[in-house]
Amino acid sequence: MSTPQPIQTAPRRYQLFIDGQFVDAESGETFKSPNPATGETFAEVAEADKADVDKAVAAARKAMTGKWSKMSARDRGRLLYKLSQLIEQRAAELAELETSDNGKPIRESTYIDLPGVVENFEYFAGWATKIEGETIPVPGQMFNYTLREPVGVCGQIIPWNFPLLMAAWKLAPALAAGNTVVLKPAEQTPVTSLELAKLIQEAGFPEGVVNIIPGYGETAGAALASHPGIDKIAFTGSTEVGKLIAKAAAENLTKVSLELGGKAPNVIFADADLDQAVNGAMMGIFFNQGQVCCAGSRLFVEEKVKEEFLGRFKEKAEKIKVGDPMDKSTLMGPQVSEEQLNKIKSYVGVAREEGATIFAGGEQPKLEGALQNGYFFQPTIFSEVNNRMRVAQEEIFGPVSSVITFDNDDDLIRQANETMYGLSAGIWTRDITRAHRFARAVKAGVVWINTYNMFNAASPFGGYKQSGYGREMGKHALELYTQVKSVWVDLSGKPIGWFGQ
Ligand code: NAI
Ligand code: MG
Repeated sequence: MSTPQPIQTAPRRYQLFIDGQFVDAESGETFKSPNPATGETFAEVAEADKADVDKAVAAARKAMTGKWSKMSARDRGRLLYKLSQLIEQRAAELAELETSDNGKPIRESTYIDLPGVVENFEYFAGWATKIEGETIPVPGQMFNYTLREPVGVCGQIIPWNFPLLMAAWKLAPALAAGNTVVLKPAEQTPVTSLELAKLIQEAGFPEGVVNIIPGYGETAGAALASHPGIDKIAFTGSTEVGKLIAKAAAENLTKVSLELGGKAPNVIFADADLDQAVNGAMMGIFFNQGQVCCAGSRLFVEEKVKEEFLGRFKEKAEKIKVGDPMDKSTLMGPQVSEEQLNKIKSYVGVAREEGATIFAGGEQPKLEGALQNGYFFQPTIFSEVNNRMRVAQEEIFGPVSSVITFDNDDDLIRQANETMYGLSAGIWTRDITRAHRFARAVKAGVVWINTYNMFNAASPFGGYKQSGYGREMGKHALELYTQVKSVWVDLSGKPIGWFGQ
């Protein structure tokens, strides 16, 4: 039986979503978004630039004082809930579009991305009515309370690795808290954000509350980040661009939250259940073709189980089915772009030069038909890596595991923390003391014990060190999208004594 091949149809067409309307870019320009499995154009999309950013920010500013600002928290929550239901009804179609635009296997977009999107909108719908101020026990005849208010117009710039899920992580808490948004999806994957715009319209959000403006980072993204008309900028992407965003924001003192890169240690102790640990190592690095900021890309293996572990890891990695992402049995699809593929290939050269061993993979798989032009790469393992090598320190963002061995707990902790990043960490052991000691000692925003890549809308996610600042999801996300006002009321009815004489 031959494997099904993707069928190319005419490119889908999309416009910008500004002030509740679908419109062309002011310049009339468009850009192409390829299907990474074939390299053929999947969608042709209006290309936002500075003029469109200005329009979108103005629309979001106007919406901040309109119907939206007067809407009850309950009605805001109901709109978010309605949106979550509309997404759920169209989940199968959205998953297919996500897979065609991004390349991730349909089983991931169907069972991980889309359920996560629905969950986030549902979860934050519930928060809308639970954002509260406090009363503070101040001394004397005074009443002091706080109001927790929206920040205002939020710019949000998201990456291509989980296109719709990243839109949900950003939009849901911002809207629950009563903000308005200008969202810029990544140029590689604009499609599902614009499909979401249709559902936002259908759900009945007032015009201008959400504006979605696909375009390139250096143009649309930079114009948004440096715009004096926004009150907050939220970014997920590379650490390099995160620094540019922080600099641009500094000019206007715009509030910033950043979710950046990682080079997470995923640690295998000899006392771990090795079957589980092998699967955990695979989940850590091959999920989403390794294009995950919290990927367990530095695999630390205790010296005494190195041979056994690596043997099993390689055997299983080589069995992963790489191919047509629309095929339900495919476990790894293509990388998102030729640029990303080339970056990964270049690191194979770097690993060789540095003296590491290409223990598994290291090449593009041989595929047939239209898939020959796709951006596929084999599951890859570098062994004999030491923590100082570039392949241990730099984010490769592909299905590439760098294996480092260690001798004891102290040696491990030292090496695990020797990185500029601090997003996540994993540990596999049956010793609970060791596991919790590691969880405290490791400098990372998320720690997984005998599991990996677990997420929930209620659980905070974000980085230490150069992996960024601010926490998304959970009640912590609301801190990013609200500000606190302290209100003082005199209850004594007397003049202020100080200058009163
Ligand atoms: P990137 O950081 O350039 O892109 C992420 C988003 O930022 C996109 O929407 C892009 O249009 C925008 N952007 C780019 N330059 C900008 C600028 N000057 N001002 C404002 N916005 C800008 O990431 P890229 O180039 O796609 O990938 C490069 C590397 O970044 C990857 O190989 C990976 O290592 C890392 N990365 C990390 C991600 C994460 O989830 N932490 C996600 C995507 C990439
Ligand atoms: Mg870039």
